[in-house]
Amino acid sequence: MSVEQRTREGPPKLFSEFVLGDVALANRVVLSSMGQHSANDGIASDWHLVHLGQYAIGGIGLAMTESTAVSANARISRGCLGLWSDAHARGLAKVAAFFAAHGVTRLGVQLNHCGRKGSVTKRWEGSTPIAPDQGGWPVGGASAMAYPGRVTPTPLSAGDMATIRQEFADAAGFANAAGADVVEIHAAHGYLLHSFLSPLSNDRTDAYGGSIHNRMRFPLEVFDAARAAWPAGKPLGVRVSVTDWAAGGLNEEETLEFCDALKQRGCSYICASSGGTTPDQDIPVEPLYQVPFAARIRRDVAIPTMAVGLITEPAQAEAILADGSADLVAMGRGLLRNPRWMSDAADILGGGIFRPPQYQ
Ligand SMILES: Cc1cc2nc3c(=O)[nH]c(=O)nc-3n(C[C@H](O)[C@H](O)[C@H](O)COP(=O)(O)O)c2cc1C
Repeated sequence: MSVEQRTREGPPKLFSEFVLGDVALANRVVLSSMGQHSANDGIASDWHLVHLGQYAIGGIGLAMTESTAVSANARISRGCLGLWSDAHARGLAKVAAFFAAHGVTRLGVQLNHCGRKGSVTKRWEGSTPIAPDQGGWPVGGASAMAYPGRVTPTPLSAGDMATIRQEFADAAGFANAAGADVVEIHAAHGYLLHSFLSPLSNDRTDAYGGSIHNRMRFPLEVFDAARAAWPAGKPLGVRVSVTDWAAGGLNEEETLEFCDALKQRGCSYICASSGGTTPDQDIPVEPLYQVPFAARIRRDVAIPTMAVGLITEPAQAEAILADGSADLVAMGRGLLRNPRWMSDAADILGGGIFRPPQYQ
Protein backbone atom coordinates (compact mmCIF):
# COMPACT_ATOMS: atom_id res chain seq x y z
CA MET A 1 0.00 0.00 0.00
CA SER A 2 1.59 3.26 -1.07
CA VAL A 3 1.76 6.34 1.09
CA GLU A 4 -0.28 8.13 -1.55
CA GLN A 5 -3.07 5.52 -1.39
CA ARG A 6 -3.01 5.64 2.38
CA THR A 7 -3.37 9.44 2.41
CA ARG A 8 -6.43 9.16 0.18
CA GLU A 9 -8.03 6.53 2.42
CA GLY A 10 -7.25 8.29 5.68
CA PRO A 11 -4.53 7.78 8.26
CA PRO A 12 -3.47 4.23 9.16
CA LYS A 13 -5.52 2.68 11.93
CA LEU A 14 -2.33 1.17 13.32
CA PHE A 15 -1.28 4.56 14.62
CA SER A 16 -4.66 5.49 16.10
CA GLU A 17 -5.43 5.65 19.81
CA PHE A 18 -7.36 2.84 21.49
CA VAL A 19 -9.03 3.41 24.84
CA LEU A 20 -9.50 0.60 27.36
CA GLY A 21 -11.27 1.88 30.48
CA ASP A 22 -9.28 4.80 31.83
CA VAL A 23 -6.18 3.84 29.87
CA ALA A 24 -5.56 5.30 26.42
CA LEU A 25 -3.08 3.39 24.27
CA ALA A 26 -1.29 5.70 21.83
CA ASN A 27 -1.48 3.12 19.04
CA ARG A 28 -2.52 -0.45 18.34
CA VAL A 29 0.85 -2.20 18.52
CA VAL A 30 1.53 -4.49 21.48
CA LEU A 31 4.66 -6.33 22.58
CA SER A 32 3.43 -9.86 23.20
CA SER A 33 4.51 -11.48 26.47
CA MET A 34 7.80 -13.29 26.11
CA GLY A 35 9.52 -15.19 28.93
CA GLN A 36 13.01 -13.85 29.61
CA HIS A 37 13.99 -16.15 32.52
CA SER A 38 16.30 -13.43 33.81
CA ALA A 39 14.75 -12.41 37.14
CA ASN A 40 16.43 -12.90 40.51
CA ASP A 41 14.05 -14.81 42.80
CA GLY A 42 11.27 -13.32 40.68
CA ILE A 43 12.54 -9.75 40.98
CA ALA A 44 13.03 -7.78 37.76
CA SER A 45 16.69 -7.28 36.86
CA ASP A 46 18.57 -4.79 34.68
CA TRP A 47 17.70 -7.11 31.81
CA HIS A 48 14.01 -6.24 32.19
CA LEU A 49 14.70 -2.51 32.25
CA VAL A 50 16.81 -2.65 29.09
CA HIS A 51 14.72 -5.27 27.29
CA LEU A 52 11.33 -3.66 27.95
CA GLY A 53 12.75 -0.14 27.84
CA GLN A 54 13.60 -0.63 24.16
CA TYR A 55 9.90 -0.81 23.39
CA ALA A 56 9.12 2.40 25.26
CA ILE A 57 11.81 4.07 23.15
CA GLY A 58 10.30 2.38 20.11
CA GLY A 59 6.92 3.98 20.81
CA ILE A 60 4.57 0.98 20.69
CA GLY A 61 1.19 1.33 22.40
CA LEU A 62 1.53 -1.37 25.05
CA ALA A 63 4.40 -3.56 26.19
CA MET A 64 3.46 -6.68 28.11
CA THR A 65 5.87 -8.23 30.57
CA GLU A 66 6.61 -11.88 30.21
CA SER A 67 4.53 -14.43 32.10
CA THR A 68 4.83 -13.15 35.68
CA ALA A 69 4.40 -15.68 38.47
CA VAL A 70 1.93 -14.95 41.25
CA SER A 71 4.01 -16.98 43.74
CA ALA A 72 7.33 -18.83 43.89
CA ASN A 73 5.47 -22.10 43.23
CA ALA A 74 3.78 -20.53 40.19
CA ARG A 75 7.08 -20.16 38.33
CA ILE A 76 8.08 -22.10 35.25
CA SER A 77 11.83 -21.76 35.89
CA ARG A 78 13.94 -20.14 38.60
CA GLY A 79 14.41 -17.16 36.29
CA CYS A 80 10.72 -16.32 35.93
CA LEU A 81 9.62 -12.81 36.72
CA GLY A 82 7.25 -12.72 39.73
CA LEU A 83 5.03 -10.43 41.76
CA TRP A 84 4.50 -11.72 45.25
CA SER A 85 6.03 -9.11 47.58
CA ASP A 86 6.77 -5.41 47.91
CA ALA A 87 10.32 -6.10 46.72
CA HIS A 88 8.91 -7.60 43.51
CA ALA A 89 6.71 -4.53 43.02
CA ARG A 90 9.73 -2.24 43.55
CA GLY A 91 11.70 -4.14 40.90
CA LEU A 92 8.98 -3.69 38.32
CA ALA A 93 8.42 -0.09 39.41
CA LYS A 94 11.83 0.81 37.93
CA VAL A 95 10.59 -0.36 34.53
CA ALA A 96 7.26 1.46 34.98
CA ALA A 97 9.09 4.67 35.96
CA PHE A 98 11.17 4.50 32.78
CA PHE A 99 8.01 4.09 30.73
CA ALA A 100 6.32 7.02 32.48
CA ALA A 101 9.34 9.27 32.03
CA HIS A 102 10.15 8.44 28.42
CA GLY A 103 7.44 8.27 25.87
CA VAL A 104 3.93 7.06 25.36
CA THR A 105 4.07 3.29 25.84
CA ARG A 106 1.89 1.75 28.53
CA LEU A 107 3.16 -1.14 30.64
CA GLY A 108 1.14 -4.32 30.99
CA VAL A 109 1.80 -7.28 33.29
CA GLN A 110 0.86 -10.82 32.35
CA LEU A 111 0.00 -12.72 35.53
CA ASN A 112 0.42 -16.47 35.46
CA HIS A 113 0.49 -19.66 37.46
CA CYS A 114 2.26 -22.24 35.37
CA GLY A 115 0.65 -25.29 36.98
CA ARG A 116 1.83 -28.62 35.63
CA LYS A 117 4.47 -27.02 33.40
CA GLY A 118 6.41 -25.74 36.43
CA SER A 119 9.66 -26.47 38.20
CA VAL A 120 11.85 -26.85 35.13
CA THR A 121 15.18 -25.42 34.02
CA LYS A 122 15.29 -22.31 31.82
CA ARG A 123 14.24 -22.74 28.20
CA TRP A 124 17.83 -22.49 26.96
CA GLU A 125 18.87 -25.10 29.56
CA GLY A 126 16.36 -27.57 28.14
CA SER A 127 13.19 -27.02 30.24
CA THR A 128 13.93 -30.25 32.12
CA PRO A 129 12.31 -30.99 35.51
CA ILE A 130 14.19 -29.79 38.61
CA ALA A 131 14.17 -32.54 41.25
CA PRO A 132 13.02 -31.57 44.78
CA ASP A 133 16.55 -32.19 46.16
CA GLN A 134 17.90 -29.82 43.50
CA GLY A 135 15.60 -27.01 44.61
CA GLY A 136 12.50 -27.99 42.64
CA TRP A 137 9.14 -26.81 43.95
CA PRO A 138 5.72 -28.47 44.36
CA VAL A 139 3.73 -28.72 41.14
CA GLY A 140 -0.06 -28.46 41.26
CA GLY A 141 -2.57 -28.84 38.48
CA ALA A 142 -6.20 -29.50 37.69
CA SER A 143 -5.61 -33.27 37.77
CA ALA A 144 -2.78 -35.75 38.24
CA MET A 145 -2.10 -35.75 34.49
CA ALA A 146 1.49 -34.88 33.56
CA TYR A 147 2.58 -32.83 30.58
CA PRO A 148 4.86 -35.32 28.81
CA GLY A 149 8.38 -35.20 30.24
CA ARG A 150 7.39 -33.08 33.22
CA VAL A 151 6.40 -33.68 36.85
CA THR A 152 3.01 -35.26 37.58
CA PRO A 153 1.02 -32.50 39.30
CA THR A 154 -0.90 -32.84 42.54
CA PRO A 155 -4.59 -32.01 41.91
CA LEU A 156 -5.48 -28.74 43.61
CA SER A 157 -7.65 -28.98 46.72
CA ALA A 158 -10.33 -26.40 47.59
CA GLY A 159 -7.78 -24.83 49.96
CA ASP A 160 -5.10 -24.69 47.24
CA MET A 161 -7.56 -22.99 44.89
CA ALA A 162 -8.47 -20.40 47.52
CA THR A 163 -4.76 -19.69 48.05
CA ILE A 164 -4.14 -19.25 44.33
CA ARG A 165 -7.17 -16.96 43.87
CA GLN A 166 -5.73 -14.78 46.65
CA GLU A 167 -2.28 -14.87 45.04
CA PHE A 168 -3.70 -13.54 41.77
CA ALA A 169 -5.52 -10.80 43.69
CA ASP A 170 -2.36 -9.89 45.63
CA ALA A 171 -0.27 -9.90 42.45
CA ALA A 172 -2.75 -7.52 40.80
CA GLY A 173 -2.31 -5.25 43.82
CA PHE A 174 1.49 -5.42 43.48
CA ALA A 175 1.18 -4.66 39.75
CA ASN A 176 -0.81 -1.56 40.64
CA ALA A 177 1.73 -0.54 43.27
CA ALA A 178 4.47 -0.96 40.67
CA GLY A 179 2.66 1.45 38.35
CA ALA A 180 1.45 -0.97 35.66
CA ASP A 181 -1.38 0.22 33.41
CA VAL A 182 -2.79 -3.12 32.21
CA VAL A 183 -3.00 -6.63 33.66
CA GLU A 184 -3.54 -9.71 31.53
CA ILE A 185 -4.36 -13.08 33.05
CA HIS A 186 -2.65 -15.95 31.29
CA ALA A 187 -5.25 -18.64 30.61
CA ALA A 188 -3.41 -20.13 27.63
CA HIS A 189 -0.49 -22.33 26.57
CA GLY A 190 -1.16 -25.23 28.95
CA TYR A 191 -0.48 -23.36 32.19
CA LEU A 192 -2.67 -23.73 35.28
CA LEU A 193 -5.84 -21.94 34.16
CA HIS A 194 -5.74 -23.51 30.70
CA SER A 195 -5.14 -26.90 32.36
CA PHE A 196 -8.54 -26.49 34.04
CA LEU A 197 -10.18 -25.48 30.74
CA SER A 198 -8.84 -28.40 28.70
CA PRO A 199 -10.28 -31.92 28.99
CA LEU A 200 -6.81 -33.20 28.05
CA SER A 201 -5.47 -32.04 31.43
CA ASN A 202 -8.64 -31.96 33.56
CA ASP A 203 -10.45 -35.18 34.46
CA ARG A 204 -11.89 -33.89 37.74
CA THR A 205 -15.26 -35.22 38.85
CA ASP A 206 -16.09 -32.28 41.14
CA ALA A 207 -17.60 -28.89 40.27
CA TYR A 208 -14.35 -27.97 38.44
CA GLY A 209 -14.39 -30.79 35.86
CA GLY A 210 -16.65 -32.20 33.17
CA SER A 211 -18.68 -29.64 31.21
CA ILE A 212 -17.07 -26.42 29.96
CA HIS A 213 -19.31 -24.68 32.50
CA ASN A 214 -17.45 -26.56 35.26
CA ARG A 215 -14.00 -26.43 33.64
CA MET A 216 -14.11 -22.64 33.36
CA ARG A 217 -15.25 -22.21 36.98
CA PHE A 218 -11.76 -21.85 38.50
CA PRO A 219 -10.37 -19.54 35.78
CA LEU A 220 -13.46 -17.33 36.25
CA GLU A 221 -13.00 -17.31 40.02
CA VAL A 222 -9.40 -16.21 39.51
CA PHE A 223 -10.56 -13.50 37.11
CA ASP A 224 -13.10 -12.23 39.67
CA ALA A 225 -10.46 -12.14 42.42
CA ALA A 226 -8.04 -10.19 40.25
CA ARG A 227 -10.76 -7.85 38.96
CA ALA A 228 -11.76 -6.98 42.53
CA ALA A 229 -8.16 -6.19 43.49
CA TRP A 230 -7.22 -4.23 40.35
CA PRO A 231 -8.48 -0.62 40.01
CA ALA A 232 -11.87 -0.56 38.26
CA GLY A 233 -10.68 1.88 35.58
CA LYS A 234 -7.61 -0.13 34.64
CA PRO A 235 -7.98 -2.77 31.93
CA LEU A 236 -7.89 -6.45 32.84
CA GLY A 237 -7.57 -8.73 29.82
CA VAL A 238 -7.22 -12.48 29.39
CA ARG A 239 -5.04 -14.49 27.00
CA VAL A 240 -6.75 -17.68 25.89
CA SER A 241 -5.74 -20.68 23.85
CA VAL A 242 -8.78 -20.81 21.61
CA THR A 243 -8.14 -24.44 20.67
CA ASP A 244 -5.82 -27.22 21.77
CA TRP A 245 -5.40 -28.28 18.13
CA ALA A 246 -5.87 -31.88 19.33
CA ALA A 247 -8.69 -34.43 19.32
CA GLY A 248 -10.70 -34.32 22.54
CA GLY A 249 -9.15 -31.00 23.55
CA LEU A 250 -10.56 -27.55 24.25
CA ASN A 251 -12.31 -26.24 21.15
CA GLU A 252 -13.32 -22.90 19.68
CA GLU A 253 -17.01 -23.15 20.68
CA GLU A 254 -16.08 -23.79 24.32
CA THR A 255 -13.64 -20.90 24.31
CA LEU A 256 -16.37 -18.60 23.00
CA GLU A 257 -18.46 -19.55 26.06
CA PHE A 258 -15.50 -18.79 28.30
CA CYS A 259 -14.94 -15.42 26.61
CA ASP A 260 -18.60 -14.54 26.94
CA ALA A 261 -18.51 -15.33 30.68
CA LEU A 262 -15.36 -13.20 31.01
CA LYS A 263 -17.10 -10.33 29.24
CA GLN A 264 -20.02 -10.52 31.70
CA ARG A 265 -17.46 -10.19 34.52
CA GLY A 266 -15.84 -7.05 33.15
CA CYS A 267 -13.01 -8.44 31.04
CA SER A 268 -11.49 -5.64 28.96
CA TYR A 269 -10.07 -7.62 26.04
CA ILE A 270 -9.25 -11.12 24.89
CA CYS A 271 -5.88 -12.01 23.38
CA ALA A 272 -6.51 -14.94 21.05
CA SER A 273 -3.66 -17.45 21.06
CA SER A 274 -3.79 -21.25 20.82
CA GLY A 275 -2.17 -24.55 21.75
CA GLY A 276 0.22 -25.52 24.52
CA THR A 277 -1.67 -28.31 26.26
CA THR A 278 -0.12 -31.24 24.45
CA PRO A 279 2.97 -31.84 22.31
CA ASP A 280 0.63 -33.84 20.03
CA GLN A 281 -1.00 -30.63 18.81
CA ASP A 282 -1.38 -30.31 15.07
CA ILE A 283 -1.04 -26.60 14.30
CA PRO A 284 -1.37 -25.25 10.76
CA VAL A 285 1.33 -22.66 11.35
CA GLU A 286 1.41 -19.93 8.71
CA PRO A 287 1.37 -16.13 8.75
CA LEU A 288 -1.69 -14.74 10.58
CA TYR A 289 -2.92 -18.26 11.45
CA GLN A 290 -4.57 -17.16 14.71
CA VAL A 291 -6.18 -13.97 13.39
CA PRO A 292 -9.51 -15.70 12.54
CA PHE A 293 -9.86 -16.57 16.25
CA ALA A 294 -9.57 -12.91 17.26
CA ALA A 295 -12.06 -11.99 14.53
CA ARG A 296 -14.63 -14.61 15.63
CA ILE A 297 -14.41 -13.64 19.32
CA ARG A 298 -14.70 -9.94 18.43
CA ARG A 299 -17.75 -10.61 16.27
CA ASP A 300 -19.60 -13.25 18.34
CA VAL A 301 -18.77 -12.07 21.87
CA ALA A 302 -18.55 -8.36 21.03
CA ILE A 303 -15.45 -7.74 23.11
CA PRO A 304 -12.20 -6.02 22.07
CA THR A 305 -9.63 -8.50 20.81
CA MET A 306 -5.88 -8.65 20.37
CA ALA A 307 -4.59 -10.71 17.45
CA VAL A 308 -1.25 -12.49 17.76
CA GLY A 309 0.84 -15.07 15.94
CA LEU A 310 3.17 -14.68 12.96
CA ILE A 311 2.21 -11.08 12.29
CA THR A 312 5.34 -9.33 11.05
CA GLU A 313 4.59 -6.80 8.32
CA PRO A 314 3.06 -3.33 8.84
CA ALA A 315 0.60 -3.91 5.98
CA GLN A 316 -0.58 -7.17 7.64
CA ALA A 317 -1.10 -5.41 10.96
CA GLU A 318 -2.98 -2.56 9.30
CA ALA A 319 -5.22 -4.98 7.36
CA ILE A 320 -6.12 -6.88 10.56
CA LEU A 321 -7.36 -3.64 12.13
CA ALA A 322 -8.94 -2.23 8.97
CA ASP A 323 -11.03 -5.35 8.29
CA GLY A 324 -12.27 -5.48 11.87
CA SER A 325 -10.54 -8.73 12.87
CA ALA A 326 -9.05 -7.18 16.00
CA ASP A 327 -8.58 -3.94 17.93
CA LEU A 328 -4.93 -4.52 18.81
CA VAL A 329 -2.08 -6.36 17.15
CA ALA A 330 0.45 -8.14 19.37
CA MET A 331 3.82 -9.22 18.06
CA GLY A 332 6.52 -11.31 19.65
CA ARG A 333 9.42 -12.37 17.48
CA GLY A 334 8.98 -9.54 14.98
CA LEU A 335 9.51 -6.97 17.73
CA LEU A 336 12.41 -8.95 19.21
CA ARG A 337 14.10 -8.72 15.84
CA ASN A 338 13.28 -5.05 15.41
CA PRO A 339 12.40 -2.94 18.48
CA ARG A 340 12.13 0.07 16.10
CA TRP A 341 9.39 -1.68 14.10
CA MET A 342 7.07 1.31 14.62
CA SER A 343 9.50 3.63 12.89
CA ASP A 344 9.72 1.32 9.87
CA ALA A 345 5.92 0.94 9.88
CA ALA A 346 5.51 4.72 9.83
CA ASP A 347 7.88 4.94 6.87
CA ILE A 348 5.95 2.25 4.99
CA LEU A 349 2.36 3.18 5.85
CA GLY A 350 2.85 6.89 6.34
CA GLY A 351 1.81 8.28 9.65
CA GLY A 352 2.98 10.09 12.70
CA ILE A 353 4.42 8.13 15.60
CA PHE A 354 6.14 9.02 18.85
CA ARG A 355 9.88 9.46 18.48
CA PRO A 356 11.94 10.23 21.59
CA PRO A 357 13.42 13.74 21.47
CA GLN A 358 16.84 12.22 22.02
CA TYR A 359 16.53 10.46 18.66
CA GLN A 360 15.12 13.34 16.67
C1 LIG B 1 10.95 -16.27 23.56
C2 LIG B 1 9.44 -16.37 23.70
C3 LIG B 1 8.89 -16.39 24.96
C4 LIG B 1 7.49 -16.44 25.11
N1 LIG B 1 6.91 -16.36 26.37
C5 LIG B 1 5.58 -16.17 26.49
C6 LIG B 1 5.00 -15.81 27.73
O1 LIG B 1 5.69 -15.61 28.74
N2 LIG B 1 3.64 -15.67 27.79
C7 LIG B 1 2.85 -15.84 26.67
O2 LIG B 1 1.63 -15.72 26.77
N3 LIG B 1 3.39 -16.15 25.48
C8 LIG B 1 4.72 -16.29 25.35
N4 LIG B 1 5.27 -16.49 24.12
C9 LIG B 1 4.39 -16.48 22.93
C10 LIG B 1 4.35 -15.06 22.34
O3 LIG B 1 3.75 -14.15 23.23
C11 LIG B 1 3.54 -15.05 21.03
O4 LIG B 1 2.20 -15.38 21.31
C12 LIG B 1 4.11 -16.02 20.00
O5 LIG B 1 5.51 -15.89 19.90
C13 LIG B 1 3.47 -15.78 18.62
O6 LIG B 1 3.69 -14.46 18.19
P1 LIG B 1 4.89 -14.08 17.15
O7 LIG B 1 4.70 -14.97 15.94
O8 LIG B 1 4.66 -12.63 16.84
O9 LIG B 1 6.20 -14.35 17.83
C14 LIG B 1 6.65 -16.50 23.96
C15 LIG B 1 7.25 -16.51 22.69
C16 LIG B 1 8.63 -16.44 22.55
C17 LIG B 1 9.22 -16.40 21.16
